[in-house]
Amino acid sequence: MCGIVGYVGNKNCVPILIQGLKRLEYRGYDSAGIGLIHEDEPIVIKTKGKVSLLEERVNELVLESEIGIGHTRWATHGIPNEQNAHPHTNANKTLFIIHNGIIENFQALKNNLIILGYKFESDTDTEVLAHLIDSYLNKGINLSKSVQMTLNEVNGTYGLAVMYSKEPDKIIAARKGSPLVIGIGAGENFIASDVSAILAYTKNVIYLEDGEFAEIYKDRYVVKSILDKEIEKEIHEINMSIDEIDKGGYPHFMLKEIMEQPESTRNSMRGRLLIEEGSAKLGGLNDIIDRLVNSKRILISACGTSWHAALVGEYMFEQYARIPVEVEYASEFRYRNPILSGEDSIFFISQSGETADTLAALKEAKSRGALALGICNVVGSTIARESMSGVYIHAGPEIGVASTKAFTAQLVVLALITLLISKRKGLKPSDGKKIADALNEIPSKIAQILKLNDEIEQLAEEFKDSPNFLYLGRGYNFPAALEGALKLKEISYIHAEGYPAAEMKHGPIALIDENMPVVFIAPKDSTYEKILSNIQEVRARGGRIIAITDEGNGEIDKLVDHTIKIPRTIEMLTPILTSIPLQLLAYHIAVKKALDVDQPRNLAKSVTVE
Ligand code: AGP
Repeated sequence: MCGIVGYVGNKNCVPILIQGLKRLEYRGYDSAGIGLIHEDEPIVIKTKGKVSLLEERVNELVLESEIGIGHTRWATHGIPNEQNAHPHTNANKTLFIIHNGIIENFQALKNNLIILGYKFESDTDTEVLAHLIDSYLNKGINLSKSVQMTLNEVNGTYGLAVMYSKEPDKIIAARKGSPLVIGIGAGENFIASDVSAILAYTKNVIYLEDGEFAEIYKDRYVVKSILDKEIEKEIHEINMSIDEIDKGGYPHFMLKEIMEQPESTRNSMRGRLLIEEGSAKLGGLNDIIDRLVNSKRILISACGTSWHAALVGEYMFEQYARIPVEVEYASEFRYRNPILSGEDSIFFISQSGETADTLAALKEAKSRGALALGICNVVGSTIARESMSGVYIHAGPEIGVASTKAFTAQLVVLALITLLISKRKGLKPSDGKKIADALNEIPSKIAQILKLNDEIEQLAEEFKDSPNFLYLGRGYNFPAALEGALKLKEISYIHAEGYPAAEMKHGPIALIDENMPVVFIAPKDSTYEKILSNIQEVRARGGRIIAITDEGNGEIDKLVDHTIKIPRTIEMLTPILTSIPLQLLAYHIAVKKALDVDQPRNLAKSVTVE
């Protein structure tokens, strides 16, 4: 949700800002802008649309500056256009601000500023901050103090960076609810929403915490608390290479990430799966394992794809650990006055680790005394740091907005947690061994499924013009149906719904005619016979059926129009395998519709607003 990058040093910052914004574009891509000081003149350049358009404008102007900030936007207040793009400025354009988050009391602040004579050029909440800071600067207060005083008046969330041409040696940064990192270089320093923007220049970073505020100069930085006390911050070394966040020869990040799944799922279980013992070890849960195993109830909370993973987790934990599980959208959980106690454990699943709803739910759970645990991909992300303990999924950077490899890695980690807690709850060694062996085979089975890419591309050609899709599955594959439908919606803009297959007869069956493609997720598991009946019901009404089922299952061929056959695994792991063809189907349909697969309209990778 909006990308922020800033530089102060001895180099020309323009290419650094543009490259940084390109790497951050997955966070928002409806408009972009940079602010810098070229030959002592403050300059702001903004464009509607992608960073490449901004780059063209900037290249025409041949600018040079040793300090600058840049922003790529995901609109919250005001439509995507040049006026609403960041940086926002004060009236005489000496001050620039870029912001990620939402200023909740912006209207009241704006009304006061209008009374004082301030004129607004945009519809954004951020512009209010520019004028408010300006009002303090006009009283002779320095930039740092003016920003602090402004933030004291603000309700809401922010990750922000501010520059002032009359104090051209520094960038001021502050965080509350939206991530920010400071990159430490030699004779140069950086600010960014996440490390991908600055990884090409430094691997040493400081994570700002909520309420922290930083003055960043080329050769030093100062971090202060909300009470204006200087804070000693730990410098973290990032263990990720720039190659890991490039496309690696694939036309889209999404395809690269789909194809990486043999390796990413292997990485998720590396060093954690104890095959011989039929168990798992997860260092992040060591300190709290007794409390977790003795929980009266486990809750899992998340949003979007991560919420689908949570649903699979519910089936896993209940089947093997026999602990009651509830799954809840983070956005609903936080506002419904949930009943929680110290006997509850609650997992928060988030790829980005920055999702505002999930983070707020985590804080709510902590405040009510529950054991709050994180399952995140991004190391050092806010949810990872705010959790009392947790597990990283180690899927590697996921850049495509549609989550793919993070989903399968989340399922692998949920399976490992299932093994760990079920063993403590008396899981039979032979069952533990069966799960461990099956998990170990998952990466090679995914590799086999990926060989169906061409076959699935042909299916995409046949179905790409359908305006609606239905995805049906039962048991462990009901969440896979939801996820398949979400993938298609997100990137192809085709209306798709996922349902438990048995629910079809309670309503959605009215939609079925010869124009309705229905994707059945039908591995030969304990629900298979039942799902065959649902297939018959669709067939009787002329629906066009695609079925995902096991290799060697010939009986289904005559009931459906197309089958995608995948290797068998144990029931609890089937959604890891069935989701792969669904990802490929969505991907190829979107490509055939010539859509922007990696940056679909209206979406953002990291949803840091409520
Ligand atoms: C997935 O394809 C989506 N882009 C979206 O639903 C995402 O899963 C959701 O916003 C949650 O994100 P998180 O896992 O980073 O918390």
